[in-house]
Amino acid sequence: MWIADGWKDYEVIDTSDGEKLERWGEYTLVRPDPQVIWSSDKSAQGWKKPNGHYHRSKAGGGEWEFHSLPDEWQISYKDLTFNLKPFSFKHTGLFPEQAVNWDWFSGLIKDATASGRYEGRQIKVLNLFAYTGGATVAALSAGAQVTHVDASKGMTGWAKENAASSGLADRPVRWLVDDCVKFVEREIRRGNKYDAIIMDPPSYGRGPKGEMWKIEESIYPFIELTMSILSDDPLFFLINSYTTGLQPAVLSYMLGATIGRKYGGEIEASEIGLPVTTSGLVLPCGASGRWTGKQEKA
Ligand SMILES: C[S@@+](CC[C@H](N)C(=O)[O-])C[C@H]1O[C@@H](n2cnc3c(N)ncnc32)[C@H](O)[C@@H]1O
Repeated sequence: MWIADGWKDYEVIDTSDGEKLERWGEYTLVRPDPQVIWSSDKSAQGWKKPNGHYHRSKAGGGEWEFHSLPDEWQISYKDLTFNLKPFSFKHTGLFPEQAVNWDWFSGLIKDATASGRYEGRQIKVLNLFAYTGGATVAALSAGAQVTHVDASKGMTGWAKENAASSGLADRPVRWLVDDCVKFVEREIRRGNKYDAIIMDPPSYGRGPKGEMWKIEESIYPFIELTMSILSDDPLFFLINSYTTGLQPAVLSYMLGATIGRKYGGEIEASEIGLPVTTSGLVLPCGASGRWTGKQEKA
């Protein structure tokens, strides 16, 4: 498993009975996690009076209970800073497990830039279903030019705030509120190309005009579609999925049948996870598939 163990400002303290106890900077949250079907002795500090507790209701959804939690606060990951606020459906605006992917592609971007692989031009990264921009700010910080696409105006605004908080507001980025499929179809017509693509699609989603996204039906034809906007010498391709059915092997087969067939390169896929400090377990947080083109070491 690829484990996001580089955090100082974030920690999964314990997991038990459908919930996880987390530390986000100086605040503790208890949030539901359907995978946690085991129990711990819940002796860990924080279970009794967390700063925030999201109570899931049987009717679906749920509500937050707060104990001295600010409306908004910040945490950092290496040189990146993220704005957090508890909002609908247990979210905080960040998926900390993605740090294991941020580190991976940031290294590729820095190596390729240092080796002059793209003759001094900036590496063009496309981040699809980009949410609050975790991957966008990581790629900007590594020196890439980024196109950030998400259907939600609110999420895209939040991503801009994260870039500003990370001191990256002046970096080359396009913030686009759009349906990802429509956007890629338009880029094909325009002949625009990218050296790297990141996609983290939801299981189910809707574009700004209600365009339906159902991952089982949509993901493979969408990956095929993106092959037409890759540059002649692509650097990497990353797919992340939180959808239980989409196992690592499935992600690697889809990459093999598309970008692998077209460009060769290397493919690897794995579950990703977060270390649980009190138990030593690793909390599984979905799966990622990675493709890398040939590498030229600096
Ligand atoms: C699970 S989040 C992605 C998480 C993100 N990659 C991260 O780690 O920060 C899914 C995002 O997809 C967006 N979305 C859903 N359907 C979409 C569509 N058809 N086109 C564009 N964005 C869409 C949602 O607005 C949401 O921000």
